[in-house]
Amino acid sequence: MSKKVLVLPGDYIGPEIMAEAVKVLDAANARFGLGIELEYGLLGGAALDECGVPLPDETLARAREVDAILLGAVGGPKWDGVERHLRPERGLLAIRSELQLFGNLRPAILYPQLAGASSLKPEIVAGLDILIVRELTGGIYFGEPRGIRTLENGEREGYNTYKYSESEVRRIAHLAFDLARKRDSRVCSVDKSNVLEATVLWREVMEEVATEYPDVELSHIYVDNAAMQLVMNPKQFDVMVTGNMFGDILSDAAAMLTGSIGMLPSASLDQAGRGMYEPCHGSAPDIAGQGKANPLATILSVAMMLRYTLASPEAAAAIEDAVSAVLDQGLRTPDIHSEGTTVVSTTEMGDAVLAAVQAA
Ligand code: NAD
Ligand code: IPM
Ligand code: MN
Repeated sequence: MSKKVLVLPGDYIGPEIMAEAVKVLDAANARFGLGIELEYGLLGGAALDECGVPLPDETLARAREVDAILLGAVGGPKWDGVERHLRPERGLLAIRSELQLFGNLRPAILYPQLAGASSLKPEIVAGLDILIVRELTGGIYFGEPRGIRTLENGEREGYNTYKYSESEVRRIAHLAFDLARKRDSRVCSVDKSNVLEATVLWREVMEEVATEYPDVELSHIYVDNAAMQLVMNPKQFDVMVTGNMFGDILSDAAAMLTGSIGMLPSASLDQAGRGMYEPCHGSAPDIAGQGKANPLATILSVAMMLRYTLASPEAAAAIEDAVSAVLDQGLRTPDIHSEGTTVVSTTEMGDAVLAAVQAA
């Protein structure tokens, strides 16, 4: 039976990195007989330009039908002036919310070949393997009321609402504990329960769920300390579970531990394990069109898609091994370049991974 993947390249470097990821996916498809069929759709600025909205009905309808979604990145200065509800990023948030992709997995793994590319000392990051589990469809990103209003004194005020229901916390907790069982069985929940009531409840529910997992160790940390610990001693963490905004921020910080944000893939899963896969980085307008973008985060997102949603662990491993082989060859896009390695373009990097998958 064939499996359908909806490809949403997005904006700026989105189409550049996606072209390389699709190359690699096609090669894995052929090599392992996966029977995957690709369709293309519009999301973000590309959709706004074409259809007048950042998430067209057609894209959402296709997204509901397919087995998995592969996304590049959306947004950029071209659409800075558009109304808030039409911003490209709103399209991304809407598709996550509509599909209830509440569980965002962001694995920060250091490829040993890149120890020298991290901004931290190699001994701090060597062997790094942490998994950030970010709640993706709730919290301050979606809380109502929200907006900008004019006060009686004529001054304007911007406001958002940070809230989490028990059921929202429970389901992300279960996901984190289940994933921890397949790793080092340690979950660290990141909150700000010394200040925010929403996260007092978050911590309580984490404790409740933990009683169902006596074999998994649960600890708690405030988000400010978590940021500090991540750059001081990141290897102390196994699974970190946190809300939408804290997870957004901490995962960009964790990305730098691995050498570059261009290395960090992600999976966004619903309750049934269906998912959307995308790099953690954005559309990098500053380097778009120059062949400088690192396609590896998107290529590694393909591997996550094969593992988590398309049940093809062998093909996933082949792609991850191919990335490692290419790094062994000393090939680097500029973001992960260090002394003694060879700078290659986005396309050359994709071609090298493709060749390594074909040779697997
Ligand atoms: P960004 O992640 O696009 O870029 C931050 C920095 O990292 C830039 O210097 C960029 O050149 C570099 N970078 C990012 N990806 C890279 C890659 N693959 N290879 C090499 N270098 C890379 O973040 P930003 O500049 O804050 O945001 C730009 C736009 O992207 C904004 O519109 C933002 O809203 C959007 N964005 C989208 C997503 C998404 O689609 N998932 C995620 C984050 C930001
Ligand atoms: C990410 C991005 C998005 C987020 C933006 C573009 C809406 O930063 O995927 O990390 O904040 O979730
Ligand atoms: Mn982000």
